[in-house]
Amino acid sequence: MLNNKKILYSGMQATGNLTLGNYLGALKNWVNVNQEYESLFGIMDLHSLTVRQDPTQFRQKARSLYILYVASGLDPEKNCIYFQSHVSGHAELSWILSCFTYMGELNRMTQFKDKASKHADNINAGLYTYPVLMAADILLYQADVVPVGEDQRQHLEITRDIATRFNGIYGDVFTIPEAYFGKRGARVMSLQDPEKKMSKSDENPNASIYLLDDTDTIIRKFKRAVTDSDTNICYSLEEKPGISNLIEIYAAVTEKTFEEVEKEFEGKGYGEFKLAVGEAVASMLKPMQNKYEQLLKEKSYIDERIKENTERAQAMAIKTLRKVQKKVGLTEKIR
Ligand code: TRP
Repeated sequence: MLNNKKILYSGMQATGNLTLGNYLGALKNWVNVNQEYESLFGIMDLHSLTVRQDPTQFRQKARSLYILYVASGLDPEKNCIYFQSHVSGHAELSWILSCFTYMGELNRMTQFKDKASKHADNINAGLYTYPVLMAADILLYQADVVPVGEDQRQHLEITRDIATRFNGIYGDVFTIPEAYFGKRGARVMSLQDPEKKMSKSDENPNASIYLLDDTDTIIRKFKRAVTDSDTNICYSLEEKPGISNLIEIYAAVTEKTFEEVEKEFEGKGYGEFKLAVGEAVASMLKPMQNKYEQLLKEKSYIDERIKENTERAQAMAIKTLRKVQKKVGLTEKIR
C-alpha cells in the first residue's frame, strides 16, 4: 500500500518489436487499470541480456519501448515508468532470492525449456535464473497485483512461492502478489501458424502485427492470414484455429463477444472479414502511433520523466532491500 492505493507492478522485455499480442494481452490491460493503483512499469532490460543483443540496437529498442508505454496511454507523470537496470536493487535482491529458490523449481519452468531449445548454443545461467530476477522485480516494490499475459502465469506462481517461503522464515517481509490476467486475457496467435503464439521474435514478419506497422501493412498481413478452406466465420479452436484467432482479435479490439462477431459476419466471406479485422486493428493503433511520433521529438520531456521516475523507484526499492538485508543478517553499512 502506498497513499492508500494498492501497488501494481508490470513490465516487458526491451527487445524485439512489440506486437498486437503484447498490446491486447498486456499493455491494454495496464492502460485500463493503472489509475486504480499506484503503478510501476519497468523496461526489463536486464532480462533481455539472457539473449545476445546488439548493444546499439538494444539501447534504441529500450528507449523506444519507454516511449511506446507512454504513447499507449500510460502517463509518466502518474505512473512510475523506468528502466530495470537503473535500479540496482533488482540485481541485489535477485541474488538473495536465488538462495531461497530450488533448482527443482527452476527446472520445471516451461519458458526456460522453451528458450533453451531455441537458443541451444547459449543456454546461460541467466536464462535459468530469469524467474528469480522477475520475482525480485515484483517483490522489491511490495506489489499487490501484477497484470501479465497468460504465458507469465508460471513465473507469478514461483514468485509467490519464493515470497511465501521467505516470509515463513523471517516474518512478513514481502507482500504476496496476485496475478491479474485482465477480463478476457486475449490470446493472440501467429497469423501464419495459428497454433503458435504471436511473437515479437518470429522470423516471418507476416506472422505478427507490430504496433508500429502502418495501415497498409496491417491490412495486407491480415489478408494473408492463414485460415481453413471452409467459408463459415465461427469460433472453433480445434477445427478453425486461424478464423478463431481473427475472431478473438476482432472481439478484443471492438470489445464484442465472439457470438456478436459471428452474427455480424454471418453469410459473409473470409475476405470481407479479414479486411474488417485489419481495419479495426489499424484504427485502434493509429492514435498511439501518432502520439509515438510526437513523443520522439520531445526528448527532454522524456528524459526528465525517466530521471524523476528512476528516483521514485529507487526510493521504494531501497526500503525493501534494506529490510531484507537486515532480516537475513547481513551486516549493516555504517552511514
Ligand atoms: N518475463 C516478462 C515477459 O517476458 C517480463 C517481466 C520481467 C515482468 N519482470 C517482470 C513482467 C515483472 C511482470 C512483472 O513478459
